[in-house]
Formats: sequence, C-alpha cells, structure tokens
Amino acid sequence: MTFTRIDHTAIAVHDLDEAVPRFERLYQTRCAERVTVREQQVEVAFLPLGDTQLELIAATSEDSGVARFLAARGEALHHIAVAVDDIAGELGRLQQSGVRLIDSEPRRGAHGRIAFVHPAGTGGVLLELVETV
Ligand code: CO
Repeated sequence: MTFTRIDHTAIAVHDLDEAVPRFERLYQTRCAERVTVREQQVEVAFLPLGDTQLELIAATSEDSGVARFLAARGEALHHIAVAVDDIAGELGRLQQSGVRLIDSEPRRGAHGRIAFVHPAGTGGVLLELVETV
C-alpha cells in the first residue's frame, strides 16, 4: 500500500482573487503558489496547512469541469488528493479491483503526475492520486 498522506483538499471557488484572501484569513495561512493548469482549464491556489495544503480551484473556461461543478453545486468540497509513490501501480491495482477510474493513465498536474478516481467508488468524493516524487 503506497497511499502515504493527504496531499491536499480542494475546494471549488467562483473567483480565486476573492477566495484566496478569504481563506487566508479563515485558516490563518498564506497562499504559497498559484498555477494555471491549461489542460484542465483551471487555475489553482495552494495554501499550506501544516504538512498538507488547501487547494482552491477556479475555472478558467465555461467548458471546464469545475465550471459545471460550480454551476451545479456552488462552492463546495471538490476533491481529496492522496500522495502515492507509484501512480501507475495504484491505478492498475484499483482498476483490477473494479474501482471506476476517470483517468486510466496518469496525466500532468500542478505538481507531478496525477489521476482522478470516480466518486462512485470512493464514497461520493472525487479522489485524486498525486505522485509527487
Ligand atoms: Co487537486
């Protein structure tokens, strides 16, 4: 088993410029990084919280999955990301045990390779695997 820790917890927000200072005040932390992930049509901000971090995620396009999520649910918990040592190995293991994947192959995220696991197999919460090595 190579799930090592919660890498980040992600909250979808409408407006990153407004949300970053709001969450900085709420959690008494400072935004460490903002990154645009063009492939996913999102901009994300990372706010360190001890040995994990909060990710605020906003859509950069109306076609973005995050834009559809916000339209349906408003601001809410979007996903939990778990750090793994071997993302390809974990995807293979999950697929073999019948867990529905969104990404059968790793793709590039803000920090290393990532893959999403469908909420149908994870208690209703979108799960991101992140290989940070
Ligand atoms: Co994430």
